[in-house]
Amino acid sequence: MERILVTGGCGFIGSNFIRFILAERDWEVVNLDALTYAGNAENLADIQEDRRYEFVHGRVEDQDLAADLCRRVEAVVHFAAETHVDRSILAAAPFVTSNVQGTQILLDAARKSGAVRRFVHVSTDEVYGSLEPEDPPFLESGPLLPNSPYAASKAASDLMVRAAWKTYGFPAIITRCSNNYGPYQFPEKLIPLMIISALADRPLPVYGDGRNVRDWIHVLDHCAGLLAVLERGRDGEVYNLGGECEQTNLAVVRMILRALDKPDSLIRFVEDRPGHDRRYAMDVSKVRRVTGWGPATPFEKGLGETVAWYASHRPWWERVMSGAYRRYFDSNYRARLRCSP
Ligand code: DAU
Repeated sequence: MERILVTGGCGFIGSNFIRFILAERDWEVVNLDALTYAGNAENLADIQEDRRYEFVHGRVEDQDLAADLCRRVEAVVHFAAETHVDRSILAAAPFVTSNVQGTQILLDAARKSGAVRRFVHVSTDEVYGSLEPEDPPFLESGPLLPNSPYAASKAASDLMVRAAWKTYGFPAIITRCSNNYGPYQFPEKLIPLMIISALADRPLPVYGDGRNVRDWIHVLDHCAGLLAVLERGRDGEVYNLGGECEQTNLAVVRMILRALDKPDSLIRFVEDRPGHDRRYAMDVSKVRRVTGWGPATPFEKGLGETVAWYASHRPWWERVMSGAYRRYFDSNYRARLRCSP
């Protein structure tokens, strides 16, 4: 591999992945990002001078741009997506545009380029729906039963990827990962929201009874899993990635409070999310068997480091909270980089 296209590389997982790839491989990385609210050019400020890194401002739904970029790379890792469940409950349309239509346009561009020989579509455990307490973890062969508009849009995009493989033999792979945590996560998600609220001694809003279960994986373990699949996965396959670490939301919130030496009295139980999935858990035996990858970071250690990262990166999240990060791109990059209008 010499050059890969990463879409959505200014988001949380995408930016961690690009930094990880530049450290682990001598590849060139082209990052196509629309810089919507969740894309933050500051997330990659430390590598912007790396000669192997190129940033392109634009959307995956831009057919000409997607075609142009796909002709120049050997592989695509597709992160670009609307990802927040609560936002999808308020307005589903942007999820269909970015996640379904965007994936279809990018798939077509990659297939027709004649250059792309591997396409990794980054998806989510939420496409499987929700588990009961006694159910075994999700398997790749399980039914797709998405419950939120977000999850439905990701399931639809997974099916477009499957169709590209089945119909055209396009060498695509789908990965489905559980809940990520780590540095640079946008503070609308549970862990950064709770850390920042606790740092400010503000109430921590826990939905419902707080006993919903998520399977937590450190973002760098996810990145290592994606690289393993990119290099050693088999075309047309689906691979679950996960942390093998089931925790109730309440347990996670309490661990954060303990790490910051803050009282449990900051917890506020608030109205539940509509259609709130009760439990996710991933069976990762397939990817382990095929690639040798498995999650490596113990949750207590990873969460402690994440809490410490947010505590020591106050300017980063204050600029996110104030919206100042959106002006960073205009002042630092626009003149120097290739930008679509
Ligand atoms: O499972 C993978 C998915 O994890 C990804 O595909 C999604 O893009 C990502 O957003 C995440 O979805 P969740 O809905 O699980 O993540 P979120 O951080 O929004 O919520 C985690 C749990 O915490 C969930 O049970 C809802 C609860 N929660 C969340 C927020 C924001 C609260 O109790 N209070 C909150 O304020």
